Amino acid sequence: MSNTAEKDAGTVLVTGAGRGLGRTLAALYAAAGFRVIACMRQATEGAMPLDVADAGSIAMLGEKLAGQPIDIVINNAAIRGDTGGLSSLEEGDFLEVMRINALAPLLVARALRPNLLAGRRKVLVNIGSRAGSLEEGTLDDDDGDYAYRCSKAALNMATVKLAQDFRGDGIAVISLHPGWVRTDMGGEEAAIDVGVSAAGLKMLIDGTTLAQTGSFRAYDGRAVAW
Ligand SMILES: NC(=O)c1ccc[n+]([C@@H]2O[C@H](COP(=O)([O-])OP(=O)(O)OC[C@H]3O[C@@H](n4cnc5c(N)ncnc54)[C@H](OP(=O)(O)O)[C@@H]3O)[C@@H](O)[C@H]2O)c1
Repeated sequence: MSNTAEKDAGTVLVTGAGRGLGRTLAALYAAAGFRVIACMRQATEGAMPLDVADAGSIAMLGEKLAGQPIDIVINNAAIRGDTGGLSSLEEGDFLEVMRINALAPLLVARALRPNLLAGRRKVLVNIGSRAGSLEEGTLDDDDGDYAYRCSKAALNMATVKLAQDFRGDGIAVISLHPGWVRTDMGGEEAAIDVGVSAAGLKMLIDGTTLAQTGSFRAYDGRAVAW
């Protein structure tokens, strides 16, 4: 997906851009005149193929995009995994959730670091979740999604580590919580419209500088405790 109607707004890359929040974020950036590199695991016209569960696919993305400045990278792709509690926790499912939600954003960050370095905005976004907050994550519910919560807690530490690591490059790294959003993952009962969440996230991303690096905020700007 690309939009060259407005000149030089910048380039944004979004993972998991085929549906849900990723698709809406991609559409918002395209409408704002950005060139959007919309990454999807299903090959679609105009999309960049990327299966974040496959380290080779991530490395290939880096090779394909070599030399192209990217202003903003959004690690959005994620899965929920089993939610049946400790009794149904299964090794393969848990590791797949960790691979997609926690490891893949690190591999994407490593692969695209040179692109971010060449970009003007220099912002790396990890779409996290309040569900992974040690302090706030279990306040509202006691559901059984061990894998997802552990993966998002790990992603938060990935944000903190990357923020430290990339600071010298002038690249800001942030975690953002989209809220409980009506998507396939959030479900129909969710509180927030996907367009409202994406617009809030975009506003935060667009206002991000090194002053915000290493922070964890919700779509409405509220700071979320780690
Ligand atoms: N919805 C909520 O209430 C909520 C709350 C807190 C945080 N979040 C976070 O917000 C982000 C977006 O969630 P969502 O609600 O939009 O979820 P969603 O509707 O389930 O969409 C998930 C996206 O991730 C992609 N994806 C999954 N596995 C992938 C893989 N191996 N390789 C490439 N892409 C993959 C999916 O692509 P396919 O179509 O190929 O499966 C899809 O585009 C996630 O990081 C999620 O954890 C959501």
